Amino acid sequence: MTDHRALAWPPAPIKTERLVLRESEARDRAAVIELNASPEVNTYLGGPRPRAELERTVPEVPGQRRGWFVVELDGAMIGTVQLKPHTPERPSNRLPEAGETELGYLFLPETWGHGYATEACTAALDWFAGALPGEPVVLYTQTANARSMRLAAKLGFTELERFEAWGAEQWFGMWSSLTPSG
Ligand SMILES: CC(C)(COP(=O)(O)OP(=O)(O)OC[C@H]1O[C@@H](n2cnc3c(N)ncnc32)[C@H](O)[C@@H]1OP(=O)(O)O)[C@@H](O)C(=O)NCCC(=O)NCCS
Repeated sequence: MTDHRALAWPPAPIKTERLVLRESEARDRAAVIELNASPEVNTYLGGPRPRAELERTVPEVPGQRRGWFVVELDGAMIGTVQLKPHTPERPSNRLPEAGETELGYLFLPETWGHGYATEACTAALDWFAGALPGEPVVLYTQTANARSMRLAAKLGFTELERFEAWGAEQWFGMWSSLTPSG
């Protein structure tokens, strides 16, 4: 079982070729609201949330959680990558052990198609593997979410199963830093 306390948080900002991954700050609030209110971002995630509700409910400093990275390009937030404790009540046939870690990613649509999500997720997985070598990371995505499916494959996730839930086919994959593709 993954002990998330081994993940020192907040980490020093992680710099990649084009991006910075860091903990969230108050100045990220507008982008977090945009991510949650965007119909495009939420097409395969249950739909957008009303902007007025988000303005009311998103905390002054959003995303203050272990493993919740803001991804920054040229000083502005373009998305988020999360490595979070896996939610055991997910309706998969295969129930992983409570405590596994789940990868999530959300990027603003105007930044899609440049490889930023691949670059940011690779850096986050490297950080995770450095802290917890060999610990698995799981990932859920709808099979209809073609961009997300391509990203999962590029990152080295392998399919464990597909199943129906929330009215759509879901893909459940796993990654480990010890597997050759990971
Ligand atoms: C899923 C999501 C993060 C993918 O974003 P993305 O920008 O397509 O992903 P990548 O970073 O891998 O970029 C890949 C694309 O960039 C292109 N690209 C351009 N320059 C590149 C570069 N320098 N390096 C790598 N790829 C580059 C690739 O060719 C590829 O294009 P293609 O998809 O047309 O083949 C994004 O669509 C999203 O935020 N979706 C909404 C949220 C969501 O559904 N999340 C899933 C829940 S787990």
